[in-house]
This record gives sequence, structure tokens and C-alpha cells, in this order.
Amino acid sequence: VLLGEITAGAMIAASIVMSRALAPIERATGAWRGLVAARQARANLKELFAGVESRGGEHVSLPRPEGSLSFENVFYLPPGLEHPVLSGIDLEIEPGENCAVVGPSGAGKSTLCRLAVGAWQPTRGHVRLGGADVYDWDPEELGPHIGYLPQLVDLLPGTVGQNIARFQALNSEAVIRAAKLAGIHELVLSLPDGYETEIALHSRRISLGQRQRLALARSLYGNPALVVLDEPNANMDEAGDRAMIEVLTRLKKLGTTVIIVTHHVSMMSCSDKVLVLKEGAIAAFGPRDQVIRPVRPVETKPATQAQPVTGSLQPAMAVRGKRHPTAE
Ligand SMILES: Nc1ncnc2c1ncn2[C@@H]1O[C@H](COP(=O)(O)OP(=O)(O)OP(=O)(O)O)[C@@H](O)[C@H]1O
Ligand SMILES: [Mg+2]
Repeated sequence: VLLGEITAGAMIAASIVMSRALAPIERATGAWRGLVAARQARANLKELFAGVESRGGEHVSLPRPEGSLSFENVFYLPPGLEHPVLSGIDLEIEPGENCAVVGPSGAGKSTLCRLAVGAWQPTRGHVRLGGADVYDWDPEELGPHIGYLPQLVDLLPGTVGQNIARFQALNSEAVIRAAKLAGIHELVLSLPDGYETEIALHSRRISLGQRQRLALARSLYGNPALVVLDEPNANMDEAGDRAMIEVLTRLKKLGTTVIIVTHHVSMMSCSDKVLVLKEGAIAAFGPRDQVIRPVRPVETKPATQAQPVTGSLQPAMAVRGKRHPTAE
């Protein structure tokens, strides 16, 4: 401009063009942190999913299993932990049997349930339902054959009916059958909108005990071959306990295999077998009357040795030193 080679206007125009041209570079340097973080996140995801195998593709669908459940030398070591949560679990439950699982807090009862339903993969060993490994089974196909009531009930946003039907296409007959089997048909009808009552994530419209019983109906939906109940009566009152025993009796008649984690001896009235877990290992497993023998009033021991038995798990825990019969 000073030498008169360009006009002042051209100088201003050049300055504007220059700032436009450099804008993307300026933006890139500003976003650099985000870019680095995104690259790191992508690398983390790749690493995380590297060990996950795809279960898709064509495969032969298995028929409905007959309900025998077996644990074959199962170990479970959560990632990052040094000691296994479950070790050397070896047991067999026949179709239609009811097996009660007892043991102190942290013994691995809930972990055993998650392995039984194929939600978690054993670090070593196999869990088989009707002879087939539950973890290898296509989850979409295995789901209808299994009922699972987790310790922490997690109903999803939707109606009561949708929750019981596991968000599958609504089959009213099957929903009502599951509700009646769980003994909650009348309870559902007493809700503001019956089966159409909306369940919100943190709604207080439905109490904890009611949620647990709705989740029980969900686990019984479609008449599964195996039902796993993780402390089903944790939030229930006495009436709920009695209803639970009735449910177990109905399942026994239907020939459903049941695993029930419980701290109540009364819940074992329908049990064929009892499994006592301690520190992730089997402390005792076998027919109920052998494992919890002191509960039977017929067994009269000298008064000094006899223990009070009603409503307590003490007797079961007293035999925890007993060896697993199959191990012997
Ligand atoms: N994924 C995991 N990562 C780390 N630790 C785990 C994992 N799963 C289970 N554990 C540990 O394993 C132990 C057993 O847990 P689990 O929930 O099976 O016990 P539980 O017998 O069901 O106890 P409770 O009677 O209190 O429900 C606990 O000490 C728990 O911290
Ligand atoms: Mg538990």
C-alpha cells in the first residue's frame, strides 16, 4: 500500500481471506485435547471388545431343555481379583428339583445364580442346562427357558404387563398366567391402572415388596424350565413369605427346576436338595434332610447338644464342615 502496489481495500481483503484460511487450523489446535481423548477412548473400547466373540451367524437351534442343571468344576475369578469368588463347584440338580442355596454374606450365592443363568461366563468349567453349556447358548433362544429374579430387582420403564412379558410381544394370556403363578394377579388389579400401570424408574407408586413380586411374575413368564430366585423374599412380609411357599409348591407341581437363595428355613419346605456355600466353595450339598438334619424334630439329641431350630439357618451352617458327597 505504501509503495502504491495495491489499494488499502485489497490489504483489508487479504487480511480477511488469511484469517478465513487459518480458521480451521486454529479450530483444530483448540480441539486437540478432545481429539486425543477420543483416540484414547477408541483404543480402550477396542481393547475391551477384543476378548468378546461374536455369537451371531447361522446355527442349529436347541429344543426346550428338560431342566437338569449341572456345574462341572466351575471356577469364577472376576477380572482384577486375585482370589476366585467361586472355586471347584461341582453339583448336579435333576429336572424338577428344588435346590436351596444358603451361606453367609459374600459366600458367592449371587455369583452362582448369575453363572446358572448364563449371564456370566465361568473362568473355568461349565454350567449345563439339559446338557448344553448355558453361556454358549444363543441368549435370545435361552431367555424364554430361564427365569431369573435378581437380588436387586430392576423393573424397567413401561407398564406392569410389559415388564411381566419381558417386553416381548404382549400375550395377555401368558402375562395373566405368570401373574397368577406368582400369586399377584389380585395385587396387579388393585393397582391404579391394573396391568397398564406405568412403572417409572424411581417411582414410589409401587413398593419394594410389590416390585419384587412383579419381578417374580416376570421370572415365571412363559413357563421356563429353570427358575433362579436370588433371595426372593428379602423385602416381603409374612404374608409374602407364605405366598412364596405357595409359588414354590406350584412350581414343584409343574416340574420346574428351581434354585432359591434364601436365609429362611421355611423356604426350604419344597427343597429336595440344599447347597451350603462358604467362601466360594461347597461346604455341604445333598438331599435336604441330610444337609439340614438338625432341623428335623424327629432327630432327638441330648438336650445339651440340641440347638433351637425354628426360623434360623444355624443348623444348616452347623454342618458346613461336612464334605460334598460327590467329592467323596
Ligand atoms: N464382578 C466382580 N468383581 C469383583 N468382585 C466380585 C464380583 N462379583 C462378585 N464379587 C465378590 O464376590 C463375593 C461374593 O459375592 P456374591 O454377591 O456372590 O455374594 P452373596 O453370597 O450373594 O452375598 P449376599 O448374601 O450378601 O448377597 C463378594 O465378596 C463380592 O465382592
Ligand atoms: Mg447375593
